[in-house]
Amino acid sequence: MSEPLSPLAAIPPDLRSLADYEARAQAHFAPEVWRHLQEGAGREITLRENRAAFDRIGLLPRAMANLDGHTRIELFGRTHAAPILLAPLAYQRLAHPDGEMATAHAAAALETGMVVSTLASVEIEAIAQGAVALARELGKGDPPLWFQLYLQPDRAHSLELVRRAEAAGYEAIVLTIDAALKPTGITLPPGVDAVNLAGMPRARHTAVPGGRILLGTPLTDAAPRWDDLAWLRGQTKLPVLVKGLVLGEDARRCVDEGADGLIVSNHGGRVLDGLPSVLDLIADVADATGGSIPLLVDGGIRSGTDVVKALALGAKAVLVGRPQMHALAVAGMPGVAHMLHLLRTELEAAMAQLGCPTVAELGPERLTRLRR
Ligand code: FNR
Repeated sequence: MSEPLSPLAAIPPDLRSLADYEARAQAHFAPEVWRHLQEGAGREITLRENRAAFDRIGLLPRAMANLDGHTRIELFGRTHAAPILLAPLAYQRLAHPDGEMATAHAAAALETGMVVSTLASVEIEAIAQGAVALARELGKGDPPLWFQLYLQPDRAHSLELVRRAEAAGYEAIVLTIDAALKPTGITLPPGVDAVNLAGMPRARHTAVPGGRILLGTPLTDAAPRWDDLAWLRGQTKLPVLVKGLVLGEDARRCVDEGADGLIVSNHGGRVLDGLPSVLDLIADVADATGGSIPLLVDGGIRSGTDVVKALALGAKAVLVGRPQMHALAVAGMPGVAHMLHLLRTELEAAMAQLGCPTVAELGPERLTRLRR
């Protein structure tokens, strides 16, 4: 079997969309890593739905509008150049030797928010320093970096991660609640590891006596519960976002427990097969929270028109997941920067075509159901 291709030294002109990166990327991964990256849970009903839901929605332009605008948004007292962030993705060194460092450099160059995973394969301090150093070199402001927390079996270790993130300058904590019971899925190759968890015991799905499979095992014991959110809220002054909820009633409870933001997400179709697309969930969450905290969404965002659809349905911003890994593998840092630039260019084109010069003007009246 042929070896995976090395990252390209220059970006070929035929890479003009996120889909182009995805089509190219497979040849840059070992087959088992590619499968791990692309797969969804079960029969992949949710994975398919994540794309199909976008394709069911059509767009209704406003004619001859004034187009003097911008894509900026405010989140937690910070201006973001566009309503697009990089979703937390584990083990980015699977895609490129520089892993999260390359992604962070791209985020800094494009002034894009990056959510760094607990399972990052580069130290979170090094990622933050690298991003800030490049931003300064380019004469840009510090990039908004958030830290994504997977609760550890021992709260002292979760707290240690939060303290490290605070000290390194991360500006928000994203508590992911939907993936604690997900099987690991891949044997990591040498040189790729969750370096930030060095010395900490990992929650593992180990056999336990008494015929138990999952329920009642150490793995379910370590899964996040409501008192963990209350605990985390009490431990940090940073904004806390909860990622991975899908229903309005849970969203309302998160608000009651002091969450500052929500990331409505089905984890890229990788957890419970059968979950609807976030596009079909966001209205319920928005109703339940009544605009009290920002709602972000991810899952299947691959183009500028996808971004406008999510925003028109009530999302404040979107996150992109797998496309980071596709672009990293194809062309490293310049690839991720180019991917983000393409997405932002498409977003501006879509807003202009729709006659909406700012994201605030994107609402459900710009959408229609396509008859297919
Ligand atoms: C993820 N996701 C994820 N989420 C998280 O909170 N922490 C993590 O470490 C990871 N790791 C991870 C690895 C891989 C390979 C994938 C595909 C996904 C979920 C991720 O943040 C996001 O919710 C989805 O990827 C969004 O869907 P798209 O954009 O990939 O369709």
